[in-house]
Amino acid sequence: MAKFLNPQRQYCGALREEHVGQRVAVCGWCARMRDLGGLIFIDLRDREGLVQCVFDESDDKALFDLAFTVRSEFTLKIEGVVRRRSSVNDKIPTGRVEILADKLEIYEKAETPPFEISDEASVNDALRLKYRYLDLRRPSLQKKLALRHRITHIAHQYFDEQGFLEIETPMLTKSTPEGARDYLVPSRVHPGEFYALPQSPQQYKQLLMLAGFDRYMQIARCFRDEDLRADRQPEFTQIDLEMSFVDQEDVMAVNEGFLQRLFQEILHIDIPLPIQRMPYQEAMARFGSDKPDLRFGYEIFPLEEIVKDCGFAVFDNAMKAGGAVRGIKVDGGAKFSRKEIDSLTEYVKTYRVKGLAWAKLSEKGELSSSFAKFLAPETMEALLKQAGAQAGDLVLIIADADEETALNALGQLRCEAARRMDAIPKDVYKLLWVTDFPLFEYGEDDEGKGRLYAKHHPFTAPQDKDLPLFETNPIAMRAKAYDIVVNGWEMGGGSIRIHRSDVQQQMFQALGFSPEDTQERFGHMLNAFRYGAPPHGGLAYGLDRLVMLLAGEDSIRDVIAFPKVQNASDLMMSCPSPVEDKQLKELSIALVEKPRQP
Ligand code: AMO
Ligand code: AMP
Repeated sequence: MAKFLNPQRQYCGALREEHVGQRVAVCGWCARMRDLGGLIFIDLRDREGLVQCVFDESDDKALFDLAFTVRSEFTLKIEGVVRRRSSVNDKIPTGRVEILADKLEIYEKAETPPFEISDEASVNDALRLKYRYLDLRRPSLQKKLALRHRITHIAHQYFDEQGFLEIETPMLTKSTPEGARDYLVPSRVHPGEFYALPQSPQQYKQLLMLAGFDRYMQIARCFRDEDLRADRQPEFTQIDLEMSFVDQEDVMAVNEGFLQRLFQEILHIDIPLPIQRMPYQEAMARFGSDKPDLRFGYEIFPLEEIVKDCGFAVFDNAMKAGGAVRGIKVDGGAKFSRKEIDSLTEYVKTYRVKGLAWAKLSEKGELSSSFAKFLAPETMEALLKQAGAQAGDLVLIIADADEETALNALGQLRCEAARRMDAIPKDVYKLLWVTDFPLFEYGEDDEGKGRLYAKHHPFTAPQDKDLPLFETNPIAMRAKAYDIVVNGWEMGGGSIRIHRSDVQQQMFQALGFSPEDTQERFGHMLNAFRYGAPPHGGLAYGLDRLVMLLAGEDSIRDVIAFPKVQNASDLMMSCPSPVEDKQLKELSIALVEKPRQP
């Protein structure tokens, strides 16, 4: 990555032995100044790295005295000749050379920064984010943002080669039903009316297909007012795609090519194609997740056949209620103490199950268990056989009246147990397409009543064979929808869209929109479909998540230049923030509650 700029200025981090003897000028920030009596060493830092610059008192006393005034984070220009370093430092790429300085310009002094600018210093996150411009001077963050640039660059390059056109879509738009709350922007010209910031460019990209653009891509900013987590920010970026006259296979093929290129160029890893596929139902049954991490085993197995009428109330009650009794085997997990198992029990309880049953076989094969005393020995034996438990293994079982709840909790437990066992291999990437998602899911409406919601979004096409179920059993319908999952993270998702207006109408109807509602919210889409819609489909990656994965991080905050914190505020800009009464008046907005004082 390091570049040799031009004869007037070079990057500090780019200097190597091949430059020995050359006269250079470097600009940057003082990372460290050391006075060794007669010699001053300044480590100068720029975006490409550090280089050591030496000022020798016996060469030039005035220059030496000026160098003596330099402190950390002063901005400097240093000129001199590159020479071999007497004490090589192989920890840094420039560690075999140094600059013997003969000129120094101090562009600007710096106050002592509120924390040390280094990757080693342990600094509180809030302080870092308040001074994000200083935090960003750290070499690791400079590298991550450069990596982000490379990834978007590869995306532009690859999709351009594949015939995609980049087209920008508006930020001031109408609510898009992606499932989160909208960020609203009041209109001054239309008092009482609001734009919504896009949750994704979904409707625009479909309209671009109707307009004939055939293959569209965009590095698109999206806004969603939802609870933040390590992999969620209120504004984030998608690599957004849409294609016409395609089916699911075509969309997947183009994207497999992209992922292969990305992993090859960034990590030098060859992703074998085609990428593994797994229907949603199977992912849920085997891994308790629609984004399974396939880097380790601990697969979920059913126990209903074995524990039917076993006499243990916890299992019997779950079965009587039509629920599930399922387990996982943690290889080598018998080493977990009672206390550790209790803590796993507390962990699963946060996923709304009532408890955790366990059985372990010691290294000698002796059984200990929380529930063996309630079961006939042959039932216990059959259970351990079903689990495939060997000496040293731990079996964890969840019973619940609701199958989905049991599977979800086991899915989380599976990952937590693997983390605690240190059973997740590093530097391994398991890519997976999850397919055949349900078209609908149940949710609560504003009045708390159960109703159907689109699992992906309301433009996602049902599978052809399921179309008759609109009338009879919509919850059983499957969608032409797919997610790309890497190591347990949902990296992207997409679908084939509905291109027939009668099917789109049926969809809105099933979602409980009245004809008036539909017209009001989606009239523009339905109208557009009346004028010749191509079959089309696409996908969007979470760019932040892709960069996080490829950078080996576990929070997207680390790969966003100016991220927001948990409560969605920007600590550096101190926003959101109150506005002047005059601005509110112009927007015809009256506040119900007084804002907090800044
Ligand atoms: P979806 O809602 O699945 O699909 O979003 C696509 C991808 O965007 C990423 N993502 C996020 N990243 C960071 N912070 C967030 N709050 C956040 N929300 C989502 C995820 C996700 O897989 N229009 C459809 C795509 C399509 O159908 O073509 C859409 O937005 O990685
Ligand atoms: P109890 O009868 O509550 O003492 O529970 C007996 C055993 O069943 C204990 O090991 C509990 O942890 C376990 N247990 C309780 N609830 C569940 C559940 N929902 N699923 C699996 N095991 C459970």
